[in-house]
Amino acid sequence: MLALVTGASSGFGYHICKKLINQGYNVIGIARRTEKLETIKHELGTNFLPITLDISESYEKTLDKLLSLPTKFSLKEIDIVVNNAGLALGLEPAYKADIHDWYQMLDTNIKGLISITRIVLPYMEEKRDGIIINMGSIAGSYAYPGANVYGATKAFVEQFSLNLRADLAGKGVRVSNIEPGLCGNTEFSLVRFRGDLTQVKKLYDRTNPILPEDIANVVLWIASQPKHININRIELMPTSQSFNHLQVTHN
Ligand SMILES: NC(=O)c1ccc[n+]([C@@H]2O[C@H](COP(=O)([O-])OP(=O)(O)OC[C@H]3O[C@@H](n4cnc5c(N)ncnc54)[C@H](OP(=O)(O)O)[C@@H]3O)[C@@H](O)[C@H]2O)c1
Repeated sequence: MLALVTGASSGFGYHICKKLINQGYNVIGIARRTEKLETIKHELGTNFLPITLDISESYEKTLDKLLSLPTKFSLKEIDIVVNNAGLALGLEPAYKADIHDWYQMLDTNIKGLISITRIVLPYMEEKRDGIIINMGSIAGSYAYPGANVYGATKAFVEQFSLNLRADLAGKGVRVSNIEPGLCGNTEFSLVRFRGDLTQVKKLYDRTNPILPEDIANVVLWIASQPKHININRIELMPTSQSFNHLQVTHN
């Protein structure tokens, strides 16, 4: 059994790789930071293949890299893809946000995700088997101040997942979208707040958030369903998180 996991160098991705390997999978782990991937390889062993790749770069570059994998990890053997790599940059209102942050989120969360998907799908379609698991977010369904482009990228991921299901009807290939709320113990908020630990600590203070291990369990649960079951979407939040009222402003 072979899985490909993007964003393997930290957070959800690392824990997903670890759990899949414990379940007997070989895992291709993709991320930009070689050093982090090498440390994980040291821990997880020879069933983990670290690939340094920036998925926001061109489709051709990603394809080249993935076509040259060793036989044990070759594209045609992939059973599960976890499109997990992604990021939020900033929490400023749209009129103050950095356009380059917006482009980076689009290039990673959307362009990178569709490149990987487009590369692996024909192999899955041919063998009439495989699961694509995309990492969405509750930000794709619910608006909040400062989520502007990040939330919109996750709305794309949700709709792309559902549309893939439509294209893959009768092909034996499954697609799921996981939509988590607040999760801690990852680098997500550190990246969003550009390394400002005070802001990160304030956000998570006494929240008891979802943990990356919890997300890895959800991935494994999806993957362990019988072949006639497709989990379309899973939305999960920590118990401490709920819905805000709609804002009304007073002029
Ligand atoms: N944490 C949350 O509260 C939360 C909630 C809902 C959804 N999510 C989603 O869950 C996913 C994982 O988040 P996380 O919380 O685990 O955050 P994280 O710890 O920051 O992990 C993000 C991963 O993505 C990789 N990555 C980022 N840009 C990349 C690129 N261009 N090419 C390849 N890899 C790239 C990072 O590795 P490198 O830096 O080494 O490239 C890292 O391994 C994201 O899609 C995020 O939007 C998170």
